[in-house]
Amino acid sequence: MGTAEAPGETTQKLLDIVAAKPAGYFARGLPQIRADQIAAVDQTQRAIFAQNAVPILSGLAQSTGVRAASVALQTRPGSSYGHGDRSPGLSGHSAGQSDGSGDLLSDLLAGQAAAQGKLTELLTGPLPEALPRFATVTDIPAVWNQGDRSVGQWDGSVLERFWRNIAAELPIIGVPAKVDLMNAGISAEFLLRLPPAPYPFDVDLTKAAAGEALFAENCGTCHRPRNEARYPVIGTDMNRAQVLNPAGSAMFLAAFQAACHDPEFGYTDTYGRRIEPCTMPAYRILRDTTEAANQGYLAPPLDGIWARAPYLHNGSVPTLAQLLKPASRAPVFLRGVIDYDPDEVGWMWQPADLDSYRARYPTVSLHDTARDGWSNRGHDRDLMIEGRLHRLDWSDPALSDQAGALIEYLKTR
Ligand code: HEC
Repeated sequence: MGTAEAPGETTQKLLDIVAAKPAGYFARGLPQIRADQIAAVDQTQRAIFAQNAVPILSGLAQSTGVRAASVALQTRPGSSYGHGDRSPGLSGHSAGQSDGSGDLLSDLLAGQAAAQGKLTELLTGPLPEALPRFATVTDIPAVWNQGDRSVGQWDGSVLERFWRNIAAELPIIGVPAKVDLMNAGISAEFLLRLPPAPYPFDVDLTKAAAGEALFAENCGTCHRPRNEARYPVIGTDMNRAQVLNPAGSAMFLAAFQAACHDPEFGYTDTYGRRIEPCTMPAYRILRDTTEAANQGYLAPPLDGIWARAPYLHNGSVPTLAQLLKPASRAPVFLRGVIDYDPDEVGWMWQPADLDSYRARYPTVSLHDTARDGWSNRGHDRDLMIEGRLHRLDWSDPALSDQAGALIEYLKTR
């Protein structure tokens, strides 16, 4: 990398690329800049880059090294992605998915080992206890209307709204000390009442009204705002719910608390309350999910659900129609197509069309429900709750009108 005065080879290459850009290039498209200011702004931007190129590149090289070690750890035999064909692609392989928790654990382990000069031990010694032994890939949950979601993450593990954003920032940034606290606070308030995008196609309101009654009877007990219960009874893939063992949980909490690098940090929330997250006790940050009795998934509020496809925490069911009719669920389907199917409610997914979709959408990938963490089981059996039958399986052709009405209603949420 060199220094600002004597740049190294890579730094010099980047500086040359910047210098070769035409005059005004780095002021182009910036809002509220008059034509007579372009030259000065362009000069300032170039100077800022030249001054900071070395620290930026060094930071990148360091974090890339830790991330590379983390990937090597994750793909070791027996590790989270080390099960050959049974493992899904590493996190990021599939559009709209990530393994936030699993990645964070392995990044933290790699970061600690690098700091102690023990990367070789990490990659050749016994697998660390905190590291999950299976992939815990999930979809991105709905982030709108956080006010209706009183606990966060698919498994309800992260509590206060501020901390949910820290949990989201950490796996991206990797280093607790670099997390932006104010950003987490601003996002928490911005998302509090952010409405979902409304369904963009026509809705049959008569059908939807029939569906609303069916929803109240069969679904509303669980899918209601601020329901903090977790439902292992629903029987969906349990990998994500089991991601934290006691060693991993301790590591998570320590990383969250380390992210609070400014103990004085605080802000006023939408309700006028003073929030001082860095003084919060552990029980307001992370709920214990290390024992089977505490593991399961939240029944999320279903507002904006049309846009959340594919469904379930692991995105394993492409459409609402297939979610309601478990007998019709596709064992293999495409992710990453952005043509919408308003009948089934979800993105187009047919694997037979892989080649033509891939030509249009380069990030299209295959979701194979036989892979670790990607199972499409669960939410497929009728349940007795408080003495009342809740129908979850609408596969019977005799129920097709009712399933259609439910789907129509869900479009209005
Ligand atoms: C026993 C409680 C319960 C009942 C009753 C129930 N659900 Fe669910 N539902 C859940 C849970 C728990 C999840 C999350 C499972 C997961 O992500 O693995 C879920 C997930 C969903 C999802 C996917 C959400 C997403 O963002 O991907 C939809 C859609 C859904 N349910 C619709 C319904 C409908 C429609 C009914 C009624 C016919 C219903 N549910 C009845 C508990 C329930």
